[in-house]
Amino acid sequence: MQAVANPIAERISSISESSTMKVAADATRLRAEGVDVVDFGAGEPDFPTPDNIKRAAIVALEQNFTKYTPAGGTAELKKAVCERHAQDFGTHYQPAECLITVGGKHAVFNLMQALVNPGDEVVIPVPYWVTYKDVVNYAGGKCVFVDTDEAAGFTVTASMIEPHLTARTRMVIVNSPSNPSGAVMDRGEFEKILHLTSRRGIYLMTDECYCKFLYDSEPYSIASVPGAKETVVVAGSLSKTYAMTGWRIGFALAPAPIIGAMGKLQSHSTSNPTSIAQKAAVEALRGPQESVTAMLAEYRKRRDFVVGRLRAIPGVQCAEPRGAFYAYPNVGVALGKNGINDTLAFSDRVLQEAHVAVVPGEAFGTDRHVRISYATSMKELERGLDRLHQFIVKYS
Ligand SMILES: Cc1ncc(COP(=O)(O)O)c(C=O)c1O
Repeated sequence: MQAVANPIAERISSISESSTMKVAADATRLRAEGVDVVDFGAGEPDFPTPDNIKRAAIVALEQNFTKYTPAGGTAELKKAVCERHAQDFGTHYQPAECLITVGGKHAVFNLMQALVNPGDEVVIPVPYWVTYKDVVNYAGGKCVFVDTDEAAGFTVTASMIEPHLTARTRMVIVNSPSNPSGAVMDRGEFEKILHLTSRRGIYLMTDECYCKFLYDSEPYSIASVPGAKETVVVAGSLSKTYAMTGWRIGFALAPAPIIGAMGKLQSHSTSNPTSIAQKAAVEALRGPQESVTAMLAEYRKRRDFVVGRLRAIPGVQCAEPRGAFYAYPNVGVALGKNGINDTLAFSDRVLQEAHVAVVPGEAFGTDRHVRISYATSMKELERGLDRLHQFIVKYS
């Protein structure tokens, strides 16, 4: 038998395995061996999906809503997405400007495929959500990374972005609140960035995955600015807002021709997101919203606890997360000695020795931080932070 010469297509070599998924897999493996692992790696709510949403899925099943739907999602769900967005943010999207996707990640992927040509530059503030880099690379684009200031809480400003805009810039990506830092963009800066991009005919992609989890400001969408809809593309997700990570429902809001292009791609790849999950999503968006408020209140308590405990570790700094459910402490004090030369080694050793799963900052573009998800119970946070404290004291 003749072995296949180049067994894997070249374009796959432009991407790497998601490090957040890898941490989850390593932690699961250790747990399966009977080790008591505290998991701060998972970027998903520890709350169950609210009952009203689950019931809507059960009703959908009972009513045999189990067939193909339109590839880009049901008209009912598109309408519900547009109405929720209008109610929350004062936008005016029509169903023709909406696509339902298999999670927010799928919306981001399809947006890149539809908008980025080989050689196009895409501006990405650091630290960034892991997936942006890989999906831009996969589309043949070139990532242009923009440093932010840890002392200013990693927040992104127009003056940071502007020097990186060139004739080749196709898109700027913003993610507020940010995964991994929890940074929230100032409205004025957001609008200044829109001004920079719209004036030059550059897309501004806003990833609104954590838009409801804000600790000291009101939910805001840059798409609500008059005229923004022409160049702003929104990637949205129900995963975190409604504790629906496994249901895989996200959406894009963008000018109709872009939605058409993404829909074409979707019609040849995933086809429709799961029919039952779409019915559940309609209930999530149209039903009572109290569960979101309740989750936010709980995350706030945990945020305060986690930041306090991290800052109490000698030598560790932690910027205050103003949204989402992640802390992004600087653990540089424990690097460069004892064989712990980078945050990959740090995360590995914390997992192996202290049995705490954290995500190395390298995954998000910085080299002295780790990401801690506080979407886990106070009891787990206490246990894990005790262990982390001891580990850092021992190795710093
Ligand atoms: C910033 C950001 N955007 C989008 C997503 C996509 O979430 P999902 O595909 O589960 O809807 C995530 C998930 O972790 C995220 O952190």
